[in-house]
Amino acid sequence: MEFPRCDTTVAWAALQGHFAAHGRDLDLREAFNRDPGRFDSLSLQAPGVFADLSKNLWDLKTRKLLTELAQECGLEARRDAMLAGAPINTTEGRAVLHTALRAPRGTAPFSDEVHGVLDRLFDFAEQVRDTGSSGIRHVVNIGIGGSDLGPQMVVPALDAWAHPGITMHFVSNVDGHDITPVLRRLRPDNTLFIIASKTFTTQETMANAAVARQWFLDQGGTDIDRHFVGATTNLTAAAEFGIHITFGFWDWVGGRYSLWSAIGLPIAIAVGSEHFRALLAGAHAMDRHFAEAPLKSNLPVQLGLLDVWYRNFHRFSSRSVAPYHQGLKRLPAYLQQLEMESNGKCVDLDGEPLPFGTSPVVWGEPGTNGQHAYFQMLHQGTDVVPVEFIAVKHPTHPHADLHAKALANCLAQSQALMLGKTTEAALGEAAPTASASLGKLTVARHRTFPGNRPSTTLLLDTLTPHTLGALIALYEHRVFTSGALWGLNSFDQWGVELGKALASQLLPRLTASGAADTRGLDASTAGLLARLKD
Ligand code: F6P
Repeated sequence: MEFPRCDTTVAWAALQGHFAAHGRDLDLREAFNRDPGRFDSLSLQAPGVFADLSKNLWDLKTRKLLTELAQECGLEARRDAMLAGAPINTTEGRAVLHTALRAPRGTAPFSDEVHGVLDRLFDFAEQVRDTGSSGIRHVVNIGIGGSDLGPQMVVPALDAWAHPGITMHFVSNVDGHDITPVLRRLRPDNTLFIIASKTFTTQETMANAAVARQWFLDQGGTDIDRHFVGATTNLTAAAEFGIHITFGFWDWVGGRYSLWSAIGLPIAIAVGSEHFRALLAGAHAMDRHFAEAPLKSNLPVQLGLLDVWYRNFHRFSSRSVAPYHQGLKRLPAYLQQLEMESNGKCVDLDGEPLPFGTSPVVWGEPGTNGQHAYFQMLHQGTDVVPVEFIAVKHPTHPHADLHAKALANCLAQSQALMLGKTTEAALGEAAPTASASLGKLTVARHRTFPGNRPSTTLLLDTLTPHTLGALIALYEHRVFTSGALWGLNSFDQWGVELGKALASQLLPRLTASGAADTRGLDASTAGLLARLKD
């Protein structure tokens, strides 16, 4: 499939002209004054997620041109190729079919395999959840990257549905400070370890799995077969480790797209098969929206196009995510892998250097915590960082007063970013803490907010398994959209390989007895190695 890269299209040139004439200087306050219908015309409803896109630095013309850009770049054909199972991950020669993992039986490629594993997985999860007969009280997921971040994000998000008698633990880091405090709280007889690794070769996971197995035996554990299970595509390696209960998946499931597969076992155990099915159904509803809605009203597409607009025209290099729901505390970390591992690339599909910026830095913390840390920079710093607020209308806790405060803060932050405060307004305020030696104008300047800072607000009715599934799929397809326009491969991750290879060369130098062998090393690494070995 040959499509032009975004920067060679007619629409791109038109967008450049539009940016120079209207885009760069668009003032949100004026735009709202000019157009009372702005909120309605720039809001979108997708399954489970309402999006207010009106506080972004764009207008209907920008949206039209960006949508034309998507058409010119063949976004629909690329999307359809992915959904049909074409090998669009060209550098690994693989299809990209995470959407098949949440498709109803018989409606997508590999349906029998997918539903066969899901059926077994759900049976197993329900057996574990029957704590009276399973005896399991603690479940430890050992995995990293995509074999950790999805379940680690979803389990707290769905805490309202969690099994009250089972505590979930997540161990990912090869640093022993991760597993040590977890093991300290466990007993072998009531603990289940899930060794989650697509490849079953990842150093961190294999090392932690070995520590867990040794701990289990040292503590008098007898039945490894019953207390260790695997989620992997590499059933042979799992068997060699001594695991005989395994839940498989396939090479067409990317690690960062795998929570819907066997990697979701901790989720199924935590919330049960019925709620896991609802998570899948929510994602599937978003898949349908992505596949069928016109580009203009297609939420993942429009979010991806905004990302291109911000990265390549406004040249914003980061985006902050602020979920005003504590259950989504790990969403920023999850999105970091999803977006930055997918689109953090500097060559196109043909290996040619890309002459424009790609993945932004994605970062954030739950609101309101972020407000008391880095929001200062978002409001008054020298860089503009688009912010993405996520709020829910109905909480799953009983504290209406707390919820109202959280929502008021969420709305206030996007309002403050947009409205700002002029120096004149600041001059009119009392400044009780000002030093006597500072002039009024100086103080007012410190209290001035430039405003016109963009944000998106995503609203969910309630954070349920269904809406969470839709929200995650929304992000997946948004990343697909920007990656497709940039003409890169969103589904490989060669950038993690070099560090892995060098680590395996350094490990024997660190563990060898005697003085540090620094031969052939750069002076900095040699110096550090010598200090560590001293
Ligand atoms: O960090 C690279 C990576 O391959 C990720 O893409 C993946 O999610 C993670 O490592 C874990 O890999 P595995 O599931 O094979 O252990």
